[in-house]
Amino acid sequence: MPDAYDLLTRELGAARVLRDEATLEAYARDESGLGRYPPDAAVLCETAEEVALVLRLCAAHRIPVTPRGAGSGMTGGALAVRGGIVLSTERMRRIVTVDPDDRIAVIQPGVINGDLQAAVEAQGLFYAPDPASLAMCSMGGNVAENAGGPRAFKYGVTRDWTLGLDVTLMGGEALRIGRRTPKGVTGYDLTALFVGSEGTFGVTTEITVRLVGKPEAVGTLIAVMPDAPSAGRAVSAVIRKGYRPRAIELLDRASIDHVRHKATYKLPDDAGAVVLVELDGEAEAMEGGVLRCGAVCEDEGAREVIVARDDADRARLWQTRRICSPCLREAHRFKLSEDIVVPPGKIAEMLRRVDATGARHDLLMATFGHAGDGNLHVNFLTDEDPADPVVRARIDAALADVFRDTLDLGGTLSGEHGIGIAKARYMAWEQSGEVIAWQKKLKRLWDPEDLLNPGKIFTA
Ligand code: MLT
Ligand code: ZN
Repeated sequence: MPDAYDLLTRELGAARVLRDEATLEAYARDESGLGRYPPDAAVLCETAEEVALVLRLCAAHRIPVTPRGAGSGMTGGALAVRGGIVLSTERMRRIVTVDPDDRIAVIQPGVINGDLQAAVEAQGLFYAPDPASLAMCSMGGNVAENAGGPRAFKYGVTRDWTLGLDVTLMGGEALRIGRRTPKGVTGYDLTALFVGSEGTFGVTTEITVRLVGKPEAVGTLIAVMPDAPSAGRAVSAVIRKGYRPRAIELLDRASIDHVRHKATYKLPDDAGAVVLVELDGEAEAMEGGVLRCGAVCEDEGAREVIVARDDADRARLWQTRRICSPCLREAHRFKLSEDIVVPPGKIAEMLRRVDATGARHDLLMATFGHAGDGNLHVNFLTDEDPADPVVRARIDAALADVFRDTLDLGGTLSGEHGIGIAKARYMAWEQSGEVIAWQKKLKRLWDPEDLLNPGKIFTA
């Protein structure tokens, strides 16, 4: 082991092979809150060649490698659960090209999602995937987890926007997969396979994404609903009537109560739930579309519909939604956020079951999220000690109930955060033994020694 670290230090310099306690502590955690896993070293790569060098040396010395972007993942994907090296791509922050004619951008994996959005919008272009953490999450992490976000309702997730990747495999072999063109069906779609593989197949060193023209106009409204079931019904009604917002978000009462003190938009005291609807498209159709969506919410019992008058108003409405996760974390000793998906018609029933689960296990629950996609962030909250076995058993039982209900309603366990270590033991609840076995065969094909991001997605 020390040999490999010495070799790495010799090649990359001591400033980029970090082994001091403070650094290892900083790389020991991510946003999942799933514990502390200090690596033996954090290696900060700046080029694809350096990534290849690290993967070649680590393969030769059988050192586990955990790739890491910004560490904003929610399922423990960047945690070095078997020690070894954390390979950070945070310094690979170059936007290589934004090409308005070909409608693509080529970027390094450390580019922050929000920086890419700003760069392409400055040229009248648009990159849709917008995770709530877009101000700090990196594109390499977005690719690894197939990140989504509110606009996924209309525009899809990271996979739908990724045309091609440069990836380096354990052992150091570099591959260029995919394409630069909007259309193309040559060979197997390896790009689609690598996006969402949670850093278990290879390390991304360059990403080619497609772009579209920036929508001419955006219209945003918030409907204040009396309760969560009526909010669920409003979401279903907007979809059933054929409207095509780019985002339909929902906050239940517990979520509203947690963001109220920091929200720049003042939520009415009697808000039982909130539905946020955002449309984009041609300017002349916008006002009518927003009013019609608002009317649908009123038909389902909305007490108030507030339409954003301008971009500043719109930013206020979105801030209220985007601070949900940090506000819940700040308020409680323990927070576990899930990202289940149910069919859109089952949202009201799922919300009812989540509340019943919280009451049954004496846990505070808060649910918000991308309701248009049926993608709900169910949060399990407590101020008791989560290390207490009795408390832990209640959390686990509630989690199992929520997963059972999700699958019972025809849903899936993860809509955008991935499986990581958080949900590995529940994979078999959703997928057959055969399907899991075939996925493990794929993993062995790309990484036979199980050294790249080991311990993720599947139980041993
Ligand atoms: C969000 O939509 O706010 C994020 O996915 C974060 C979360 O689930 O807590
Ligand atoms: Zn989300």
